[in-house]
Amino acid sequence: MSILKNIGELATVNPKSGEVEKISDAFLQWSGEDVVKIGLMDEIPNDTEVFDANGMLVTAGLVDAHTHPVFAGSRANEFYLRNSGVPYMEIAKKGGGIRASVRMLRESSDATIRTQVQKNLDGFIAHGTTTIEGKSGYGLSVNDEIRSLKILNEVAENHPLEVVPTFLGAHEVPDEYRENRNEYIRIVCEEMIPKVAEKELAEYCDVFCEEGVFSVEESRKIFQAAKENGLKIRFHAEEFVANGGAQLAAEVGAHSADHLMAIEDSGIEALKNGKVVPIALPGTTFFLGKDSFAPVQKMLKADLPVALATDFNPGSSFTQNLQLMMTIGCVQFGFSAEQALKSVTYNAAKSLKREDKIGCISAGFQADFVVWNVSNLDELPYLFGTNHAKQVFKKGKLI
Ligand code: NIG
Ligand code: FE
Repeated sequence: MSILKNIGELATVNPKSGEVEKISDAFLQWSGEDVVKIGLMDEIPNDTEVFDANGMLVTAGLVDAHTHPVFAGSRANEFYLRNSGVPYMEIAKKGGGIRASVRMLRESSDATIRTQVQKNLDGFIAHGTTTIEGKSGYGLSVNDEIRSLKILNEVAENHPLEVVPTFLGAHEVPDEYRENRNEYIRIVCEEMIPKVAEKELAEYCDVFCEEGVFSVEESRKIFQAAKENGLKIRFHAEEFVANGGAQLAAEVGAHSADHLMAIEDSGIEALKNGKVVPIALPGTTFFLGKDSFAPVQKMLKADLPVALATDFNPGSSFTQNLQLMMTIGCVQFGFSAEQALKSVTYNAAKSLKREDKIGCISAGFQADFVVWNVSNLDELPYLFGTNHAKQVFKKGKLI
């Protein structure tokens, strides 16, 4: 048995009520990979291995349910281009954006990509994130998509960060198929998806559905192939244009619909009826210099379990800091500190259908938790832009 003593405040969603509870002067006890007990310092048991939180805040390890960690090279040039007034989708149309990352990944050796992925996984842990969903999507050929997912799985296998892999072959139409998109969609459906499924390289399939990228009809076709091959579904939907992506997410039984900056009331209704978890990506809205954030307050009014994620990627959101997403959630969506915590733990875990194992500190849950450099939850989103993670534990082990 191990114990963490002197917790100033332990803040966690209670998985039974779904509400955030805060316990002062607490201890946390675990055995192997799982939590055994939370209690008050007055009743602390004697234990073999003792860690000291020194009066600081402890929460569950954060869960980042939307990331793109497999890439090579930099798109810093696009950051400054956008800031000088060139829109993201215009850069994409001219061959930059995702396609620029695709060219860089294809030219990179396995070793180069592996080094970058390793660095990226390290970065999540350093910020208090203990589980991520991670997408491919910068290969866009049979070989390069399989290569991307293989490297992600291999690096993750020897890394404390838990990674839920997603196949995103339909991230964009690559350069060589711009005049023949139907052939590319055929390759995604008939060659990539069956290979990814057969080799068990991904749990989910995702599509970027947007004007100028993949249409709702094309997305439906790809999801059909994904489901036939046993992949579950997440969905880049309704980012810039309301096009019925939310309705399609509900129709195909997606576990999450992500971005949603342009979602309309009927789309929110569809997510509700389809039990789809909405994931807002406020770092993307911020980093693209947009002011139309996803209508999160409307989603909360509809009683939807909104999650926040970083969308970590070299183009539209180059951050691994979920603490910063909590801050933007408070400022842009009117979140309380409790809502902010729930959005990056319990609700994010729910979008991955793992809310019975991660995202809470509770008996029987995985012992994934973080000691923060602040003494209570209110302080965590408040001092923003810095990294407050002090000690990160994954499956009971201090990393
Ligand atoms: O989620 N929206 C589509 N895909 C990514 C952007 C990837 C990129 O620009 O490289 C996103 O924002
Ligand atoms: Fe994304």
